[in-house]
Amino acid sequence: MTEKMTVTPWEVKGEIDYYKLIKEFGTEPLTDELIARLKRHTKDLHLLLRRKMFFSHRDFGWILDEYEKDNKFYLYTGRGPSGHTHLGHLIPWFLTKWLQDKFKAKLYFQLTDDEKFLFNPKLSIEDTQKFAYENTLDIIALGFDQKRTFVFSDINYAKTLYKEALKVAKKLTFSTTKAVFGFTSESNVGQIFFTSMQSVPCFLESIKAGKNVPCLIPLAIDQDPHFRITRDIAPKLGYYKPAIIHSKFLPGLGKGGKMSASEPDTCIFTTDSQEQIDRKISNAFTGGAATIKEQKEKGGNPDICSVYQYYYFVFEPDDKKVKELKEKCKAGKIMCGECKKELASRIKKFMAEHQKKREQAKKVIDKFILSD
Ligand code: TRP
Repeated sequence: MTEKMTVTPWEVKGEIDYYKLIKEFGTEPLTDELIARLKRHTKDLHLLLRRKMFFSHRDFGWILDEYEKDNKFYLYTGRGPSGHTHLGHLIPWFLTKWLQDKFKAKLYFQLTDDEKFLFNPKLSIEDTQKFAYENTLDIIALGFDQKRTFVFSDINYAKTLYKEALKVAKKLTFSTTKAVFGFTSESNVGQIFFTSMQSVPCFLESIKAGKNVPCLIPLAIDQDPHFRITRDIAPKLGYYKPAIIHSKFLPGLGKGGKMSASEPDTCIFTTDSQEQIDRKISNAFTGGAATIKEQKEKGGNPDICSVYQYYYFVFEPDDKKVKELKEKCKAGKIMCGECKKELASRIKKFMAEHQKKREQAKKVIDKFILSD
């Protein structure tokens, strides 16, 4: 039996029905029409949009309305620094970078070292701050624009953030956070307050600019509940509601489930060695048949194959080639070993480059960081 679907900011498990999530969370599907409207401004479309990795939104049409009226938006996204960055984390960041380039938008990047301390019994503040530093290297390595990108840890930027978080917290009751996040009387009080901190970057640019600036948040859909709260409170504080575009989760290398750091063998970390990448990919779950003979006769099943997903969502940007790969697999014309080997070599190439840029990032990190 498949596990029941659970999607909360702190837990994602079971088989994910994205259509059902749109209904349960009350978001809107990211339609072809909206994507076409975006394309009028960007000229081309990022792979993650063409392949529908981003599938849902709140008020994205409004962001475009405002943009067309010359009321430009800024971007906001974040990372909970509970460990090293893996490929799954990079998905929303790739799109964020592309949006920044296309719209010359400012970006606030929040590192919730406070959250990960409060929610993870095993992590100390020193741990989450260390991972905040490590994760920042990955952010910078992706090539965000130094002049327009502001990365901050909640703890190190608390003097600025806390004052604004208080204003959110004053409008937020325990009964609402309980209903949204499922807190109980046993939850620590820091957890109950925390969402106020995640709200603040939705208004940060408005506060700095002294006038309201639209905010667009690219994120994986598990983070949406936080911003449901923010969107209720924003007008009460005199701000716009933040708009959101939601991505699906990158699947792990095992059978089903998202890429999750709690199962290190099913994810590729940005700190993995070339040997580790080879090993993880060679052990990946595929849609292949039991024997080579059978696969030649009946073909493989790319729809359930984790390796195919990696080509599809990240490592085969050419639309024609990805289609050919699928056909070849279904026709039994390519075997899993070969397919895995090629994927491993693409991932290794990407990571070798990334790791080089990650090292270089150490020299410029100060230019990206906000603290007080
Ligand atoms: N809470 C997020 C996490 O655990 C981190 C985060 C903070 C975030 N602000 C965000 C994620 C905005 C997406 C968008 O990963």
